[in-house]
Amino acid sequence: MIDLYRLAGPVLRSLPPELAHRLALRALALGLAGRPPGVDDPILAVDLWGKRFPNPVGLAAGFDKHGEAPAQALALGFGLAEVGSVTPRPQSGTQGPRLFRLTEDNAVINRMGFNSEGHAAVAARLARRPKGMLGINLGRNKDSADAGLDFAAGVRAFGTMADYLVVNLSSPNTPGLRALQGKAPLEALLGRINEARAMLPNDGPPLLVKIAPDLVDDELADIAAVTMAMRVDGLIVSNTTIARPDTLRSPHKGEGGGLSGAPLFVPSTRVLARMFVLTEGKMPLIGCGGIASGEQAYAKIRAGASLVQLYTALVYDGPALVTRIKRDLAALLRRDGFAKLSDAVGVDTKV
Ligand code: FNR
Repeated sequence: MIDLYRLAGPVLRSLPPELAHRLALRALALGLAGRPPGVDDPILAVDLWGKRFPNPVGLAAGFDKHGEAPAQALALGFGLAEVGSVTPRPQSGTQGPRLFRLTEDNAVINRMGFNSEGHAAVAARLARRPKGMLGINLGRNKDSADAGLDFAAGVRAFGTMADYLVVNLSSPNTPGLRALQGKAPLEALLGRINEARAMLPNDGPPLLVKIAPDLVDDELADIAAVTMAMRVDGLIVSNTTIARPDTLRSPHKGEGGGLSGAPLFVPSTRVLARMFVLTEGKMPLIGCGGIASGEQAYAKIRAGASLVQLYTALVYDGPALVTRIKRDLAALLRRDGFAKLSDAVGVDTKV
């Protein structure tokens, strides 16, 4: 692949972050990001929920919030692409600067606050369904009085379009959202969501819940118990963190919002491993947080992830990273004698 990003990357990173993001997404939508070579190494294929993912490396939510370029993201070599979060009604999100590069830390802080074009606009765009595995991540409107209604509406709006749906309960920039991860609210919410799922053909696509990396063990145990009991098909671990590790060096480290990228790798992988234990290895997990190499993707898989996702590393390394991660991951699996990826899931975590 011609790595245009080697030229464009420094230019993009000299621009204000949100403008750079818009330009990168536009370039991707226009097909300017190039094409990766060939088909995926068969050792990377993942069979999950009755579907075949050609490789486990996914584009995390937040990069393509409005469904502008999922086909092109998949063409970059991602095995799955997640659009969203999408809120029922359009909303503009947080005012003022809301996206910050922490260059010295290979990290980003965002407080976008669910800027979204809304269900109708995104559904219209996705009517031309991309080839490949498409996830749709559901959010709630900031001024909504009833989160259950918002998520049920998302299930109805996208239930026949997606390969999987995500109930995002973990973005730190929507007041009250993360409280829905608590035992009683989560039970009530999933009850409402399951009513909406029951109206779809075959109960709709797999439904995942995306959780925060900042939960303590009791909270994780409640989430494991409730989601297993209420027919949730998987968990994404994790969203951004509200913690600010002492190691951060960037001048932007004091900005409010969710921190992603390198400093999130260790804490999010710890929560991932814990969730694998709490769900006794029975709940498919998507590992997300700080992945920037094949070694790190492999570590998430060995900790318990069946699939992985990334976003922030793309800001610093560009789209060629996807091909690099897949190549290195395949080599690591072979080095350690695994015949297929699923054999490596959770081997580092004692259930
Ligand atoms: C995000 N993320 C995110 N997650 C989500 O579920 N819905 C969303 O709308 C967004 N929006 C968003 C915007 C920006 C600018 C960033 C950087 C991130 C979180 C993202 O999907 C992922 O969980 C974290 O960023 C951790 O992965 P990385 O970035 O460390 O690979």
